[in-house]
Amino acid sequence: MGEYEKKLEEIEKRIEEISGAANAAAVETLRREFLGKAGPFQDLMKGLKNLPPDEKPGMGKRINGLKNRAAKALETRLVELREQLGDDVSDLDYTLPGTRPTQGRLHLLTRTIEQILTVFQDMGFHVVEGPDIEDEWHNFEALRLHADHPARDTQDSFYLGEDRLLKTHTSPMQIRYMEEHPLPIQMVAPGYCYRRDPFTSRHSPTFFQIEALMIDKNITFAHLKGVLVEFVRGFFGRERKVRFRPDFFPFVEPGCEIAMDCPFCDGEGCRVCSQSGWIEILGAGMVHPGVLEYCNIDSKANTGFAFGMGVERPAMIRYGIDDIRHFYENDFRFLSQF
Ligand code: DAH
Repeated sequence: MGEYEKKLEEIEKRIEEISGAANAAAVETLRREFLGKAGPFQDLMKGLKNLPPDEKPGMGKRINGLKNRAAKALETRLVELREQLGDDVSDLDYTLPGTRPTQGRLHLLTRTIEQILTVFQDMGFHVVEGPDIEDEWHNFEALRLHADHPARDTQDSFYLGEDRLLKTHTSPMQIRYMEEHPLPIQMVAPGYCYRRDPFTSRHSPTFFQIEALMIDKNITFAHLKGVLVEFVRGFFGRERKVRFRPDFFPFVEPGCEIAMDCPFCDGEGCRVCSQSGWIEILGAGMVHPGVLEYCNIDSKANTGFAFGMGVERPAMIRYGIDDIRHFYENDFRFLSQF
């Protein structure tokens, strides 16, 4: 028996195996084995030329016949499997847990900002936004942070050119708003701020502030106190205590610093509040008459208050976050926890 003959018999036997293929994947493997580029039939056809001329036609026919049988057996087995398993002949395991598409959500900082703004909107404050790039007049001069003023150094700035800088705080929005709107004024202005600070667990060169301004006839420190106590209790919980202490900012007189009793230890002293029992949350004061005059508001007839707060700190306190960098690194493992 020639070698050719032997090969054909081997293939014949293997075609019989097709009917025993266990599943569609096995059928597919066999299909590639038989009919793929590296399959046996191509080789056999090529080998024909070495046979004696009178054997060629008969052998060619047999090879083609086997090829057709293999194709038919594959098709038949696939149909059988389909009938056994219903329409789906793949190896899908329906008991495996599915993969849910991940759902997007608002950044923790965005949500905190929205929650804070909502507390003020509920008290009638109008929300406005301003530019990131400021000039020295709005960022410093009109706020009485004059060129020789020591406070100006503390706001180490990113200058973009002569008289152009990234705003170092949201207070310039006070000026912009007073320039453009008639009294009474009751606004809050959220915005990013930029300072040349190193990126550490407690400082970030980019941070978020919310500024507030209320000006009209007969606005007093009592209004400031009422609004701030309501904010602290509305955002951190009704049981919070609020502390007012004198502080200095050139654009307010008197100025003050506001703290609340630490929500983690209820004022007892703990790691979060550095054992002091209090957490400082914002700066505030009665708008300096000089600032009102810069904006063409009669400071004899009108008064008002302003305050500015960072947003990261309240968010860190509320959600127990110990490093400000988490807000800006956009690590999904962190963000998706909230
Ligand atoms: N702009 C100040 C800062 O960035 C915060 C501030 C203090 C804002 C007192 C005010 C205020 O409106 O009255 O440090």
